Amino acid sequence: MTTTPVAGRATSVAARATDLSKIYGQGETQVVALDRVTVEFRQAEFTAIMGPSGSGKSTLMHCVAGLDTFSSGSVRIGDTELGSLKDKQLTKLRRDKIGFIFQAFNLLPTLTALENITLPMDIAGRKPDKEWLDSVIQMVGLRDRLSHRPAQLSGGQQQRVAVARALASKPDIIFGDEPTGNLDSRSGAEVLGFLRNSVRELGQTVVMVTHDPVAAAYADRVVFLADGRIVDEMYKPTAENVLDFMKQFDAKGRTS
Ligand SMILES: Nc1ncnc2c1ncn2[C@@H]1O[C@H](COP(=O)(O)OP(=O)(O)OP(=O)(O)O)[C@@H](O)[C@H]1O
Ligand SMILES: [Mg+2]
Repeated sequence: MTTTPVAGRATSVAARATDLSKIYGQGETQVVALDRVTVEFRQAEFTAIMGPSGSGKSTLMHCVAGLDTFSSGSVRIGDTELGSLKDKQLTKLRRDKIGFIFQAFNLLPTLTALENITLPMDIAGRKPDKEWLDSVIQMVGLRDRLSHRPAQLSGGQQQRVAVARALASKPDIIFGDEPTGNLDSRSGAEVLGFLRNSVRELGQTVVMVTHDPVAAAYADRVVFLADGRIVDEMYKPTAENVLDFMKQFDAKGRTS
């Protein structure tokens, strides 16, 4: 099931974790959330991260995205080692290179949809690339809702604002932690479609945590975590294959 990356694509790694470990607490209460994880996220690839609750998915994503510290190992975003950065530099890297989409949309209620989309760039004092912003707004289908505030938007529309916000600054990589977890299946499918399009048409790199085999099937590749380790990966996933794998895995987990 595992395939080796195509030769010559070695330079197009958007993010990489090497021997990454994250240990919470000490002694009896110690939890090994990540156990020497090595994983690569290539440019213009859509990766889903799956695994049982508590397997370390959010921890992995937060460590790779520079939102959390790690106990050992290393993380690179592009050519930058996160471990070598001071706090300020890390904040800047997160702001300039990384887009986030969380399960709770994290929109500011007093700002309009458009203001929410451009907020990270406004904070950074950067002017949005008008053409790009326009194509992002077009893609997520929010043109006639730009002056609405979050409370005036449906859940799916709010999540589309969050997707547009993540895409607007052309980040090197977008991380989503169950970005469609709060949406009905139709709105979820829309958001996943936009993410996939952003990878196919705009060359965006996306890493998404999900529990849903249907959502995972939008990705180019699924990485499976269990007990803080990567146990397998699958290319060109279908919902059926992912579900089969999860069933097998559950069965193995119970017998071992
Ligand atoms: N702040 C913390 N202190 C102690 N243990 C923690 C902390 N945060 C997470 N953990 C533990 O680390 C492990 C991995 O947690 P993580 O949130 O990464 O799981 P997950 O795969 O995202 O699960 P879920 O699917 O439920 O979101 C879990 O066993 C969790 O209890
Ligand atoms: Mg989680």
